[in-house]
Amino acid sequence: MLISIDPARTAGTINPAVHGQFIEFLGSCITDGIWVGEDSEIPNIRGFRSAVIDAMKALRPPLVRWPGGCYADTYHWRDGIGPRSERPVGYNENFATFEVDTHEFGTDEFMDFCRLIDAEPWLNINLMSGSTSEMREWMEYCNREGETDAARERATNGSVTPYKVKYWGIGNEVWAGGGFMTPGAYADEYRKFATAMPSFKTSVFDEDHLFRIASGPDGNKPLERVTWTRDFFDRLAEYRQPGIQGYDLHFYNWNLDNPEDTPVDFTEADWNRVIRGSLELEDVILEQGRLIREGLARMPEPESDMDTRLTEVQLVVGEWGNWHRTAFTERPALFQQVTMRDAITTAITLDIFHRNCDLVSMACVAQTVNVLNALIITDGPSTVLTPNYDVFMMYRDHRGAEAADLRLGDGDPDVFSFASVKDGQVVVNLVNASMLLPKTIELEFESAVVATGREVLVAGHPTDHNTPGDPDRVRRATVAVDGTPVSRVSIELPAASVSVLRFSLTA
Ligand code: AHR
Repeated sequence: MLISIDPARTAGTINPAVHGQFIEFLGSCITDGIWVGEDSEIPNIRGFRSAVIDAMKALRPPLVRWPGGCYADTYHWRDGIGPRSERPVGYNENFATFEVDTHEFGTDEFMDFCRLIDAEPWLNINLMSGSTSEMREWMEYCNREGETDAARERATNGSVTPYKVKYWGIGNEVWAGGGFMTPGAYADEYRKFATAMPSFKTSVFDEDHLFRIASGPDGNKPLERVTWTRDFFDRLAEYRQPGIQGYDLHFYNWNLDNPEDTPVDFTEADWNRVIRGSLELEDVILEQGRLIREGLARMPEPESDMDTRLTEVQLVVGEWGNWHRTAFTERPALFQQVTMRDAITTAITLDIFHRNCDLVSMACVAQTVNVLNALIITDGPSTVLTPNYDVFMMYRDHRGAEAADLRLGDGDPDVFSFASVKDGQVVVNLVNASMLLPKTIELEFESAVVATGREVLVAGHPTDHNTPGDPDRVRRATVAVDGTPVSRVSIELPAASVSVLRFSLTA
């Protein structure tokens, strides 16, 4: 199979935020995963598990979304601030978590976490059981500078400096757990909450720095997601439009069909079904991108110069990942092991975002630790990096790069590829999604390049996974490269593998 790349022809810049993360109070994502508490015997930094912090520091994810998800829609931010011993103890039923909720990890801890790993925070407000005043108070607490009660309270809790949170989600999955709303009812709620948000401007001429994210459709409902987006934008088009910068589509690659299929025990048919399932997201993105464009085109012209017309809304994929059947019955809730099957769909998904960088501006994998498509798994004192972590690490160079023109010749349905260019370097991803067959591909460049690096992620067996007893069973490896300038190179791709190749442009 021939893959032709022309680094001189590019199709847009990849927003680093498509490598975003999502953490929520589900199962052991936060409690026992990220957060072990200051008194824990597990090595920690101010209560955060040191091994998680180290791994996240190395990855430097650009964005982290919190506190949910569904959890956000019953969360009162006040329960999670102030001295930890005085915080209320509640109960978390979300997604069968069924655990006492001590609220030890709240707003200040989340901001500390983001600062430690150098990530931008995305806060999701409580649209369902919360109110506009509750949302305003939370925003004031996070962002107000100066001598207000909210700013003073934040200072008392440790941060004189405002958190300057830019990304605010208004509702989560409002078509189901977020209220079983209709798009029209949600659009009306959205208007109210978006309008009630403080602007944090100090002059009417200041730029709007907030990025308000509306809950988008269920990406897994082929009929509903179309009417949802159409009806949501139509409702906004009835009258003047509030500020809306992002539209949050969620897409899970559900793997429910075969009761015998588990995250670490599956057949080739199970493997193929999961790989193929992940591909649908690209069609959903193209479809939603078109629906947003059409929706915006229907916005009426304002009657006066004082009003603005909604002309741009960016597509966001706030939750994505494989969701295997066993996650529903696992303890802690939604726990899944991770094999090359997940690593390959993770690679395919990130490449869908890279390729569609003109449409998708932000995305968050669900979820970073111990839940669903995790990058990190913890078990008591042990912390294990999954093969998904390797894919995110291998793909870091694409952040902020230009998507390069790439053509796949005589298509092999198992081979996926993407290339980007930045600072004179071309980075090429090659995914062999065949569970059993190695592949040989020919890579052809418009002009000569010099290979500077190559990494390969492959397992001894497709069901292999990392455990506390064998933490590096599936780990990326560096492969030696030949530094002779070439314009065509032949590459062997092991079965079930992800490869990243780096080349420098010679001219
Ligand atoms: O990621 C787990 C859950 O999946 C989230 O809480 C919810 O938004 C989605 O349904």
